[in-house]
Amino acid sequence: MLVTQQKILRRFWYPVLPMDQLADKPVPFTLLGQAIVIWKDQDGKPAATIDRCCHRTAKLSKGFCTADGKIACGYHGWEFDGTGQCTRIPQWKDAGRTPKFKIDAYHAKERYGFVWVALDDPMFDIPEIPEASDPSFRRIPEFYEPWNVNALRVLENAFDNAHFTYVHKSSFGDPDPTPSEMTYEEFPWGFRTHSIVRVQNPDLQKKNLGIEEGMTTRDNTRTWFMPFFRQLRIRYPNGLVHCIQTGATPIDDTRSQLVQFVYRNDSEAETPAASVVAFDRQVTGEDREILEATEYDVPLSATSGEEFHMPSDKPGMLMRRRFISLLAEAGETEIRRATKPETPREAAE
Ligand code: FES
Ligand SMILES: [Fe+2]
Repeated sequence: MLVTQQKILRRFWYPVLPMDQLADKPVPFTLLGQAIVIWKDQDGKPAATIDRCCHRTAKLSKGFCTADGKIACGYHGWEFDGTGQCTRIPQWKDAGRTPKFKIDAYHAKERYGFVWVALDDPMFDIPEIPEASDPSFRRIPEFYEPWNVNALRVLENAFDNAHFTYVHKSSFGDPDPTPSEMTYEEFPWGFRTHSIVRVQNPDLQKKNLGIEEGMTTRDNTRTWFMPFFRQLRIRYPNGLVHCIQTGATPIDDTRSQLVQFVYRNDSEAETPAASVVAFDRQVTGEDREILEATEYDVPLSATSGEEFHMPSDKPGMLMRRRFISLLAEAGETEIRRATKPETPREAAE
C-alpha cells in the first residue's frame, strides 16, 4: 500500500509538530506527500495550509507571520488566514475590492503538546489518552525525528511480540524467543491488545523501575489508533506505569516522522526523565535500525506471496485486514508500486 496514494488516509489526524517548535515563524512539514505549512493564529492556535502561494507558487513557509495571526508570503507579501482565504494583497490599491483568492487549508488542533493535522474531514477524533489528564501522571517528551521507513511497518512492529529476543537482545529482550499470547478487542477506530511479557531488566532499568531482579514482567495493554498511532501502557509488578505514545506520521511512502512521548506515574525525584529517555532511546534505536532495513510498500493481502507469516504476526495481519476494509468502504483499491524492488543482481544487469 502506498500511503500517499490512498486518499482515505487524508481523513485521519496525525501529530506533525511539537507545539514548542512553533513560535513566531511558519514551519514546513510534508504529510502524506503534501507540502503543508503550520503557524500560530492570533489566538495562539495552530493553523495549517498548503505550502504554496497562489500568486507565483513561493513556499509560504519562507514567509512570516503577521501581528494579526495571518501567514504572509515572503515574495510579495500576500496574506492568508487559517481557512486559506487571501485577506490582503499589499500592492492592490482598492482594498475593498481585493479578489477572493483561496488556497487549500487543513484541519489543525493542539493536543498532548503537539500540533495535529488532518488533510480532509477526519473520520475519528484525535486518540483519547486518559493519562494525559490524570494528575498522577507526568509527561516526558521523547522523540521527534524522521525515519526512513513506511508508517505501517512501524505500527506492525509496535504490536509484534516476536522480535524482542532479536532486536532488543541488548536492552530488554527475553532470550527465550517464544512470543507471549495476546488477547484482542476490536473497535471501529482500531483495536486493543493485552499480553504479559517477560523481559530482561538491565542496570539502567533497575534504577528506572525500582526493581532489583534481573528479569521482570510487563503487563502490556497496547492500543492501535488507525492508521498510525499506538499507545503502549506497561504496568510493572510494583505498580509503576510507563505509558508510551508512538506516532509514525507518514511523510511520504518511504519516510515517517517518529513522534514519541511518555506518561509515567512516578516523580522526577524517583526517576530522572533523562534516564527514562536514555533507556527508551536505546530501545527505539534498535527498532529503527531493523525497520529502516525493510521495504516500504507493505502488501495488504495475506496471500500476496511477497511475505510469509507466522501465528504471532496476528496484530499486523489484523491491521492489514482493517486497511483492506477501510479502502473498500472508501471505494478505493490498494495501490502498489509499479515495479518490484530490484535485487542487486538485477540492478547490475
Ligand atoms: S508569490 Fe506569494 S505573494 Fe507573490
Ligand atoms: Fe521493538
